[in-house]
Amino acid sequence: MSDINFKDYIRVIPDFPQPGIRFKDITTLLKDGNVYRAAIEDIRKAVEHMQIDIIAGPEARGFVVGAPLATALGVGFAPIRKSGKLPGETIQASYDLEYGNDSLAMHKDAISPGQRVLIADDLLATGGTIATSMNLVRQLGGEVVGAAFLIELSYLTGREKLEGVEVFSLVTY
Ligand code: PRP
Repeated sequence: MSDINFKDYIRVIPDFPQPGIRFKDITTLLKDGNVYRAAIEDIRKAVEHMQIDIIAGPEARGFVVGAPLATALGVGFAPIRKSGKLPGETIQASYDLEYGNDSLAMHKDAISPGQRVLIADDLLATGGTIATSMNLVRQLGGEVVGAAFLIELSYLTGREKLEGVEVFSLVTY
């Protein structure tokens, strides 16, 4: 694991997007190539034992973690998108966010039955997004073996929604 203190590179913006929310801005981490690469490399090392066949990640910031992690592991990437964006046949599920609600979709052929799937995202907050992502992957017959995040907001207890799944978070608040 690297000796970088990743929190030093995450900017906290008060009252965004609503009063009272302290937004964790990862753009300040992503713009530093060495730090971004070290973050993905640390996550790769933490999950490589899981024998993952494919990574699924929810847009938009889940792509920023999931896609480079997939290439680092040498596995494929399945995008989980907000409804109405994917062109092929999809399955959908709706969910609540820390602020607001939305609906996510996956292509019906994104995951093959029996594949070992890791879900990757930038942030575990209430766990609504990851729970919905797991629901979609499981509907397609995938086995959710792990979940990996850059950031976990432990005070929002999203991890409780991940029972039976191995969870790795690079940074915890
Ligand atoms: C954010 C974040 C996670 C999710 C975490 O995504 O990137 O996906 O919220 O919150 P939760 O654990 O309470 O569900 P958002 O829906 O804001 O989409 P974006 O990545 O497109 O900005």
